[in-house]
Amino acid sequence: MKIPEFTSFELLPLTGSLGAEIFGSDLNAANDEVIAQVQLALDHYHVLAIRDQSFDPCSFHKVARRFGPFTGNPIHTPLDGFDDVVRFTREAEDRGKVVGEDLHMDMAWMENPPAVTMLYGEEIPQVGGDTLFSSLSAAYEGLSDAMRELIQDLIGVHEGKGVYAVNAVHKTLNVKSSAQSLEEIATHHPLVCCHPTTGRRHLFLSSALHRFVGMTEAESLPIIRFLQTYAQRVEYTCRLRWAPGTLSMWSNTCLLHSAINDYPGQRRVVLRTTIAGSPPTGGSYL
Ligand SMILES: [Fe+2]
Repeated sequence: MKIPEFTSFELLPLTGSLGAEIFGSDLNAANDEVIAQVQLALDHYHVLAIRDQSFDPCSFHKVARRFGPFTGNPIHTPLDGFDDVVRFTREAEDRGKVVGEDLHMDMAWMENPPAVTMLYGEEIPQVGGDTLFSSLSAAYEGLSDAMRELIQDLIGVHEGKGVYAVNAVHKTLNVKSSAQSLEEIATHHPLVCCHPTTGRRHLFLSSALHRFVGMTEAESLPIIRFLQTYAQRVEYTCRLRWAPGTLSMWSNTCLLHSAINDYPGQRRVVLRTTIAGSPPTGGSYL
């Protein structure tokens, strides 16, 4: 795939497979051309760390909405005065799991899951708390032709079972009581999807994927486990190191990600919103 040129900012790729850092652009003051170039960079690199931004919830909301409408969020109660901005706080004295530490895709069980997740670092540990990403495009491209052919028409069933419980243990998340109804959700998405802009194929995997349509769990699980393990090969990953003022944007459905739980005794505060794109659609075998 041809690498686009970017004239509105400096861009440094993070790894050979995915991810890039962006320097020298204040998104609060960005014109439409800058926003379009950030979107182009996101479509190409799938993970962006846009450094040295300065947002409060209001400016974060305004910039996010320039990239597209809000997806809705059936789990987390938003900040007062907003429908689309959530604050995740991990206090220094908190122990146990951090939010999102198991490899996952955000809200994969929605009919139209977030195309993009945006996180802004308000308070970031001196060290630790990185986010790990696995590229589901690079993983798909790394499969053999025979394996790609085998999986090309499978339809995954992504369930909401356990989502409420996993989130409700984090008191600071202020989980909506209506989220208990997510237990019943089972949403179908093709296992092989196409990026809506670039046409690049990717696996659509998540921690909520438990079986394929027309197959039993026993038949499905070996394939799911293989693909989930395969997608974590180190050459398909990148690790984003945060700093105060870092804005991260990622192509949610093209990735798995994990919040690394290695900063006990330090406080971490981020703002999150999500951006709707087109629903995941299947891609025919290349
Ligand atoms: Fe997440």
